[in-house]
Amino acid sequence: MTALDAGPPGALRIAPSILAADFGALGQAIAAVDAETDWLHVDVMDGHFVPNVSIGPPVVASLRRYSARFFDCHLMMSQPGRYLEAFAQAGADGCTVHVEVGDTAALLAEARARGLRVGLAANPDTPFERVAPFLDQIDLLLLMTVFPGFGGQAFMPEVMDKVGQARREVGASSLRLDIEVDGGIDEVTAPIAVAAGANVLVAGSAIFSRADQLGAARALRAAASGR
Ligand code: DX5
Ligand code: ZN
Repeated sequence: MTALDAGPPGALRIAPSILAADFGALGQAIAAVDAETDWLHVDVMDGHFVPNVSIGPPVVASLRRYSARFFDCHLMMSQPGRYLEAFAQAGADGCTVHVEVGDTAALLAEARARGLRVGLAANPDTPFERVAPFLDQIDLLLLMTVFPGFGGQAFMPEVMDKVGQARREVGASSLRLDIEVDGGIDEVTAPIAVAAGANVLVAGSAIFSRADQLGAARALRAAASGR
């Protein structure tokens, strides 16, 4: 299936993280929340950059056959450059690499050359200054609101200063990019992140760990929209 595009930069996007879904029934999990969500956030963990392993390109390729939504792949990997081609071939639409792994300019250029929408991620304790030089080379800035590796952790409000810094810089430099937050996003924290300047909200537990997943997604969007 061909993916829909990402939509206009800066628009509110709800991105369910399949990390919290039933891995035995991912197709149904995505379909269940389709009406109330926008992107699909795919958490890729290599057991090295983070102390956990999850999924890789074969799962992306399988899901691509069932879904036309924008696949937002978050590469929590020490060597993402080795896998960008495989993710692009599998049907990823965007790939986000972490600034902490280094070689950032080359990785961003490589992702771009593979036709991917390009994202750069920063851990909660990585200062804005580390990502600032790359803002004109990316489509998405992911500011982690937990330390990556596991779903279900508590939102770190102290990251909101950095989100505000990024949003101000995007405005001041007239950049066209999305600011995404990931970790501990729910109906309570989503409005806090949006007020600080985020427009893409990743949510795993707050959607897939609920009995009514579609209702949870709807509630999250409503909360993020101030409704
Ligand atoms: C953390 C992942 C997140 C995580 C979010 O390493 O990058 O995407 O799955 O899960 P929740 O929403 O449960 O914090
Ligand atoms: Zn993620």
